[in-house]
Amino acid sequence: MNEQKRSKWSGQLAFVLAAAASAIGLGNLWRFPYLAAQYGGGTFIAVYLILVVTLGFALMVTEIAVGRKTRQAPLTAYSKLNGKWGFIGFLATLIPVLIVPYYCVIGGWVIKYFVTYVHMVFTGATPMGAGAAASDRFFECFISSNFAPFGYGTIFILICASVIVMGVKNGIEKSNMVMMPVLFILALAISLYVVLLPGSGAGLKYYLVPSMDALAGADGGFSFARLAKTLLGAMGQMFYSLSLAMGIMITYGSYMRKEDSIERCVRRIEIFDTIIAIIAGLMIIPVVHMFAVKTGTPVKTAMNAGPGLMFITLPKVFATLGQAGAWLGMAFFGLVIFAALTSAISLYEACVASACDLLGIGRKAATFFMGALILFLSTFSALGYGAWGDIRILPGVLSADGLQFLDFFDFITNSLFMPVVALATCIGVGWIMKPKVIIEEVESHGTSFKAKRIYVFFVKYFAPVLMTLLLVSEVCRALNIGGWAI
Ligand code: PFF
Repeated sequence: MNEQKRSKWSGQLAFVLAAAASAIGLGNLWRFPYLAAQYGGGTFIAVYLILVVTLGFALMVTEIAVGRKTRQAPLTAYSKLNGKWGFIGFLATLIPVLIVPYYCVIGGWVIKYFVTYVHMVFTGATPMGAGAAASDRFFECFISSNFAPFGYGTIFILICASVIVMGVKNGIEKSNMVMMPVLFILALAISLYVVLLPGSGAGLKYYLVPSMDALAGADGGFSFARLAKTLLGAMGQMFYSLSLAMGIMITYGSYMRKEDSIERCVRRIEIFDTIIAIIAGLMIIPVVHMFAVKTGTPVKTAMNAGPGLMFITLPKVFATLGQAGAWLGMAFFGLVIFAALTSAISLYEACVASACDLLGIGRKAATFFMGALILFLSTFSALGYGAWGDIRILPGVLSADGLQFLDFFDFITNSLFMPVVALATCIGVGWIMKPKVIIEEVESHGTSFKAKRIYVFFVKYFAPVLMTLLLVSEVCRALNIGGWAI
């Protein structure tokens, strides 16, 4: 697509909002709180913040600059920059193609929970059980049923497709203008409500105050392995949350105006994303802490719920709050739907833009073609806990029996492809094409690049070393070498 015809954001605010909308998603609301809970709250947050302003900053500046310079989506952007580097573009395009189907299935789960809470609020029904215990079964029954997860996932995909087909300005920009403010207001209101609940203090302290206990090993003393795991957990989360190494920021950067400051935009995107992640913890961790104390569950056990924290533990917590809990559940899952939608739209858009740039087809055709592919691939994740539950992939990797489809797609993208793309990008930009290419783009139109020197250090040395560590640790974790499992 040529420079004149290519869509553009209407301004800097629209770009920041779109990139923040992409970044703020299930990663903030579902993944960050359970990781923070698992790794001891404040300590994890401190490590995470350092990584966001260093590694995250360098990678996001690089990706946005590559997109804006080449005016291409990832599939063709890297090869335009350097003929030999086209394979990173291929990998970076494959990532959203593999992520968006399972992300939409999880989006479908969120719609199901929202609908259930609406039902509870307006009819007084208690489909999750009046008591807490029933919600384990509720989640399991739902994800293992034959049609419902696929049906809800399809609704989610259709909503995304209807926004994308309307284009960058009329679809993505306009929908963000509605969804993002609602998301912020709901997040603030819910977290305020939770923080003001009597008895929330202990959970708040656990969440926000860094403690050396979090870094203690089995013998109670400082454990270097625990620190390394916290660092690597935070690094993986940073990639996920900032939508890095998956072609999105390249795609969104390709619609950016030359006169806007990449550096300033990146800082703002990081601030928005981090604030929402921290607020998500404020919404969840104090109530889970209170719940643990109330029911006599050890705090560590409640906090270690992992991925089930949002779908299993939280509904149990809401169930203990009576009718207020039903309202809270409705508001919370409504907010999660918006966050998940805006992120899924950005993943889907990365796929659509690559199809348009490579094949020279129009947006409508690309949206339809990609939608069909996403729907097809989502079937595996949707049925993977139900009708196709017996099928397992890669036995011996992460678990002896092998992985369910959704976990498999999550594993190959987040644990393997994303660190590889990030590492290859840093080596390509830092050592082969040289950081000058990116710096020139950031400074085009006379915009200053204040963190220029430190950027060069990050992209040439700091990032490649950390990325290599992340990749090695992920492979060791998958193959259960050296006790990396958390
Ligand atoms: N950054 C978004 C989130 O935090 O949910 C989008 C996203 C990133 C989705 C990475 C999925 C993924 F693997």
